[in-house]
Amino acid sequence: MRTIVITGGTDGMGAALAHHYLTAGDRVVAIGRDRAKFETLVAKASATGGGDAGPPVAARAEFLAADLSSVAEARRTVGRLTERHPRIDALVLAASFVRRRRHLTPEGHEASWALFFLSKYLLVTGVAPVLAAAARPVVVNAAVPGARPDAIDFEDPGMATGFTFARSNAQQRRANELLGVLATGLDPDLAYVTWGPARLVRSGFAGEFGTAARLGVTVLGGLLGQRPATAVRPLVRLLDDPAPGRAAYRGGTRRPLAAGPREAEECARLTALVEATL
Ligand SMILES: NC(=O)c1ccc[n+]([C@@H]2O[C@H](COP(=O)([O-])OP(=O)(O)OC[C@H]3O[C@@H](n4cnc5c(N)ncnc54)[C@H](OP(=O)(O)O)[C@@H]3O)[C@@H](O)[C@H]2O)c1
Repeated sequence: MRTIVITGGTDGMGAALAHHYLTAGDRVVAIGRDRAKFETLVAKASATGGGDAGPPVAARAEFLAADLSSVAEARRTVGRLTERHPRIDALVLAASFVRRRRHLTPEGHEASWALFFLSKYLLVTGVAPVLAAAARPVVVNAAVPGARPDAIDFEDPGMATGFTFARSNAQQRRANELLGVLATGLDPDLAYVTWGPARLVRSGFAGEFGTAARLGVTVLGGLLGQRPATAVRPLVRLLDDPAPGRAAYRGGTRRPLAAGPREAEECARLTALVEATL
């Protein structure tokens, strides 16, 4: 039985993956804020059945409540994971809360940077020892690959000046690619995949969109969006047959890794920046 940890495992694509692995007989740790969503997910997976020879779904499903835009809660989550699980086979980073505007957390971090990068940095580096205990460890980071190599504002990552949704989004995506360079540098056996769906997915769309944008994503998602269970099929293949090293995918299509001429320097700067921040 594998242990699969999924941030954002209570809704959208994270929940679709959680359902898949619970019905396949694996242990799933879902991280999110809403226990009621988790209980609905477990009830659905129990009704579907699966993993017939092993323990029942409810005995293999664990919920960790955490607001991952909080650095303190991300650290506590790492502590809980490493205490409870001597081996983690797969870590899926799919927690999402879209903010079109700059927002500071009570800890003073820009909220999107904290949720979409700082927490991921803490999780990937913090659970590295128990990931290394897996035969074929894999991290899938749902950060759409392909951001410009110069997208990180090293002087002002919280974007006190010049915040736009597009800049903030590109910055976290690039930082998550560099996180893969760091993680696979520390453990060459680790598979680290940055992944985005091939097209819009009819998910929970967690976030503060504003009325017009909310209407837009709901209508477009309803008309054109893929079902989460369909969107994650290529992810299941990547999680079930991981290849050591870095890779980038949109849906099931491999994309080139955006290397950039100064990647090693950028990684060192990013590490120094994060360690000074946290
Ligand atoms: N949907 C798309 O078309 C699309 C397109 C491109 C990329 N993506 C990426 O794919 C991934 C999954 O997206 P999705 O649309 O499937 O997600 P979603 O349905 O909006 O669900 C978001 C998940 O994140 C959790 N979450 C939100 N804020 C959190 C916080 N502060 N701390 C901890 N957990 C939090 C939610 O759990 P609780 O409610 O329990 O807190 C929920 O499980 C994300 O990384 C997203 O950026 C999605």
